[in-house]
Amino acid sequence: MNGQISAPARSNFGVQTLGEIIDGKAFAANLLSTITAEVAKLPFKPGLAVVLVGDDAASRVYVANKIRTTEQAGMLSVHHRLGADTTQAELLALVARLNADPNVHGILVQLPLPKHLNADEVINTIHPDKDVDGLTVVSAGRLASGLPGLVSCTPLGCLLLLQDHLADLSGLNAVVLGRSNLVGKPIAQLLLQQNCTVTIAHSKTRDLAALCKTADILIAAVGRPEMVRGDWIKPGATVIDVGINRVAAATPGKTKLVGDVAFAEAAPLAGFITPVPGGVGPMTIACLLRNTLTAARRIEKIER
Ligand code: GUN
Repeated sequence: MNGQISAPARSNFGVQTLGEIIDGKAFAANLLSTITAEVAKLPFKPGLAVVLVGDDAASRVYVANKIRTTEQAGMLSVHHRLGADTTQAELLALVARLNADPNVHGILVQLPLPKHLNADEVINTIHPDKDVDGLTVVSAGRLASGLPGLVSCTPLGCLLLLQDHLADLSGLNAVVLGRSNLVGKPIAQLLLQQNCTVTIAHSKTRDLAALCKTADILIAAVGRPEMVRGDWIKPGATVIDVGINRVAAATPGKTKLVGDVAFAEAAPLAGFITPVPGGVGPMTIACLLRNTLTAARRIEKIER
């Protein structure tokens, strides 16, 4: 990119783009091989415990993926599958045992939990130093205060992609669409740490389109299919689409995944843009293992 806005430069994913489509899948694969090499140098195996409660079909697929990737990276994978009738006390006791287990450096309780369980209490029972999901109140506080801690995987994945493509984020205007504890708020904190000027937009924000058009970095994390239109994009902006929405495809009876950004409209204008699928999604699991490695090094006091 030479900073000039001219004719669309490339064709990727069947769409003319001004800039470049960010290949999250390739970046995540690279990150996983670096993590695997780092794990092999350690005198112990970092351990990741994953807890699945109940029979949610999507959660089962996600957890199977996490277990497989953990093992492929040479880490110890500890998994607990509990019945849908598990009590709060039983689940809290399991988390307490994992907190005390010296072979376990990271703990992830897969969400959503069955409705009768109090997820906040369960998550906040995880020891913050083993909170590889970055979901505890202590992890959120450490992030907001600029203290060392563990950062939620999807926001961390977004930051790594941004740094890889833009290098220095200092002084850039960032607009984050969405204010969830899981994505919007931690991404905003990370961008602030990188000296971006950050605006968090939400359902009550006025003139969202005009606000988005001021963004050098636009993060969409609202869970609304293709809400961000092409004319919301500042030419040359970097667009990170966190949305994963399943919608009806053109073929009757078929579905497809789309993001929160209307990709075909936005890509011709963006300097960099993540696709869905294949953008932010693959980064989440890679960052889970990166967090597990970080937690293991800190707990075992291994110098880098
Ligand atoms: N369910 C869907 N995504 C996630 C995640 O990132 N962490 C946890 N714990 N549960 C999830």
